[in-house]
Amino acid sequence: MVERRSAAVAIQVGVNTGVAGVQTSIEPIEPGVHARELGADLREPIVDMVEAGIHSVEPGVHPRGQGVDARAQVEEGSERSRGQQADRGPDAGVDGVSSVAPGRDRPDHAAGTMKDMRVAIVGATGAVGRTMLQILQERDFPLDELSLLASERTAGTRLRFRSEQHTVGLLTPEALEGVDLALSSCGSAIAQTWVPQAAERGTIVVDNSSAFRMEPWAELVIPEVNPEALERGAKVYAVPNCTIITALMALAPLHRAAGLESVSLSSYQSVSGAGAKGVRELVEQVEKLHGMEDDLAHPDLDALPVGDVFGKTIAYNVLAKIDVFDPESGSTFEEIKVQREAKRLLSLPELDISATCVRVPVPVGHSVSLHATFARPFSVTEAREALEAAEGVQLRDDPANDVYPSPLEAAGIDDTLVGRIRQPEGHDEELLLFACGDNLRKGAALNAVQIAERVSAAR
Ligand SMILES: NC(=O)c1ccc[n+]([C@@H]2O[C@H](COP(=O)([O-])OP(=O)(O)OC[C@H]3O[C@@H](n4cnc5c(N)ncnc54)[C@H](OP(=O)(O)O)[C@@H]3O)[C@@H](O)[C@H]2O)c1
Repeated sequence: MVERRSAAVAIQVGVNTGVAGVQTSIEPIEPGVHARELGADLREPIVDMVEAGIHSVEPGVHPRGQGVDARAQVEEGSERSRGQQADRGPDAGVDGVSSVAPGRDRPDHAAGTMKDMRVAIVGATGAVGRTMLQILQERDFPLDELSLLASERTAGTRLRFRSEQHTVGLLTPEALEGVDLALSSCGSAIAQTWVPQAAERGTIVVDNSSAFRMEPWAELVIPEVNPEALERGAKVYAVPNCTIITALMALAPLHRAAGLESVSLSSYQSVSGAGAKGVRELVEQVEKLHGMEDDLAHPDLDALPVGDVFGKTIAYNVLAKIDVFDPESGSTFEEIKVQREAKRLLSLPELDISATCVRVPVPVGHSVSLHATFARPFSVTEAREALEAAEGVQLRDDPANDVYPSPLEAAGIDDTLVGRIRQPEGHDEELLLFACGDNLRKGAALNAVQIAERVSAAR
């Protein structure tokens, strides 16, 4: 994911919030930072697919059976209301939308819950936020009240949940009062401004950003990988980086069987990993280059379309840079996140892991190529057995019949697909494999909701 470090610098004021002494901002939510990164209308079908979610909204119904109608059930407010927000421009102040309070347009039907549970989604109008809303509905999450929050750019948008329209409100400290559980997907700079304070006031927060993943007072959790972290009673849970989730869904069952010693990882990450704006940038560039495909054999580099999100042309290209470069190591921060989060999630501080993270022009679905070394000889057959038994994993490994994972097959489903399992000749403690996962679902929203389900069950 692209984390905008300049925005983080702009709003950090370094005040101690009191949550285990973490130094962070207590300025209430600075609106507008993100708004400048996001454009106006998003009407392209493929962008709508990501913005509106591409998955089932009916519990128990497979997403692929739903098609366009299913997507329409979690819907954007009218184009007019969205256009009005965009027309206000990036510098539009809070005043104009301060009257936008979150709420239902009609009362929720009884959710069938045993305990009162007030839930908020912060960043509800983004790619991950919309997917969280869908997954809460698909899994019939037990909640009694739901608040949807975002910045002034999309406050006022109406989103449907359980057949009722909810109006997205503005993120303010008041909007979070009395909320039992907040699912956050508003980016790390904004999360730092409200998560510690909300946690101090008793809200359990599950955050998708990288802001708290390495904090000792927060728990970094993939329920299938380190469920013990859910037992420690944290106030803040961090969803790991989406690439390491895809990788560890494949590697953790193998680690349990044979002890992981080293990993070399290369990723192929979709543009939706950079949010809805990333998908829009790819779609715009594909359109601009339509009819010019032959010219790409000898491109005029200065004439290629370039956008704000990816820096270089992403259409018909691959970019070996996700997030900014660390000047000291030469790695990108995405690569650094992948490595350090793997060590924490597996409780293997000495794990020998290297990563090269690459953006590819795929709308949804991250892929990883993995070269792993184990503490003992580990056959392909044994590895297949371990993966077949693993929760949240589907084995797609039948080369004779052309069965292997691809991101389009992983998009829209919950399981991580694993295949291409091979042993390098003469290295019986090593395996090569390839895995694909939906970055918006298991890579973010689904993992967050799974954590929320455990937290809710423990109340
Ligand atoms: N996309 C992925 O595959 C993925 C995977 C794992 C983790 N994540 C993480 O999840 C987070 C969200 O990612 P995304 O892809 O959903 O991004 P996105 O599509 O750009 O959505 C961002 C959301 O945050 C809201 N937001 C921005 N500034 C805000 C503010 N000042 N106050 C309140 N809300 C604000 C936006 O609302 P407005 O539109 O109203 O500004 C929008 O709803 C990021 O931290 C990202 O790193 C993403």
